[in-house]
Amino acid sequence: MQPKLQRRVQRYGWDKASVHYDRYWARQIEPSQALLLEMAQLRPGDRVVDIACGTGLVTWPAAEAVGPDGLVVATDISDRMVELVNDEAERRGLGQVRGARMGAEELELDDDSFDATLNALGLMYVPDPVRALNEMRRVLRPGGRAAAAVWGRRDRCGWAEIFPIVDCRVETEVCPLFFQLGTGDALEYAFEAAGFDRITSRRISSSLHYEDEEEALGAAFVGGPVAMAYARFDDATREEAHAEYLESIEPYRNGSGYRIPGEFVVTLGFNEPASTPEDR
Ligand SMILES: C[S@@+](CC[C@H](N)C(=O)[O-])C[C@H]1O[C@@H](n2cnc3c(N)ncnc32)[C@H](O)[C@@H]1O
Repeated sequence: MQPKLQRRVQRYGWDKASVHYDRYWARQIEPSQALLLEMAQLRPGDRVVDIACGTGLVTWPAAEAVGPDGLVVATDISDRMVELVNDEAERRGLGQVRGARMGAEELELDDDSFDATLNALGLMYVPDPVRALNEMRRVLRPGGRAAAAVWGRRDRCGWAEIFPIVDCRVETEVCPLFFQLGTGDALEYAFEAAGFDRITSRRISSSLHYEDEEEALGAAFVGGPVAMAYARFDDATREEAHAEYLESIEPYRNGSGYRIPGEFVVTLGFNEPASTPEDR
């Protein structure tokens, strides 16, 4: 898929998914976000960029960690997500949060101006993840740190069939490289390619719990990355796609609901100051 088209599919797809996202996904992805925040070690007063912030699930604990003297710039490609974050920041009285629409590959932020950059479950949607990581490093001060979480290996994510089920009904693939960064050491290599140092990673297993078929279908079709393609399906196509998806997750049935395996990889890297002759 052309990068420009991929960005458009993401931008408008997540606009649609925004109102459903927390209901279907907040509980399921919390372990990856908690690990990301633990590894990022945010401190009071830190200046942070939360990239691909979505509805702000990472923005809020980050804002708490940096406190009123810090700053969290919450950025996303979806206008709707950014609006939600700005509204919620106002409702919570968090003056240290500023939402702004921008793509991960082109941050409209100054060089060397942040202590930490976060990207929770956003890099899989970006056409050029190394470019996005380069941008994370560019805006970090020397010694600043970047943390990113992605979904893990495809065969360890029991919901993965959603992509071929949707892709075979639309013209172009929705997320062509979705599981690439979660395979092997790919995320670490991407950090390395972007020039980060002292890179460490952790891989964790998790389970997605759905109470019933309706919840499992909602998460897969309206709450996430295929929302835009799905919005264009007619009723018959929807029914077919639902039936195929339910069949694909049948092995994970748990009573009237589901317990679907998932895996995440979280990586941390530092923007080390360039060494000078005196350092050597
Ligand atoms: C799965 S959500 C993750 C949201 C949030 N970080 C979280 O952990 O809940 C993925 C987000 O990535 C955003 N996104 C997709 N492509 C993007 C891009 N090229 N630049 C910035 N954000 C992007 C989407 O709009 C969506 O809000």
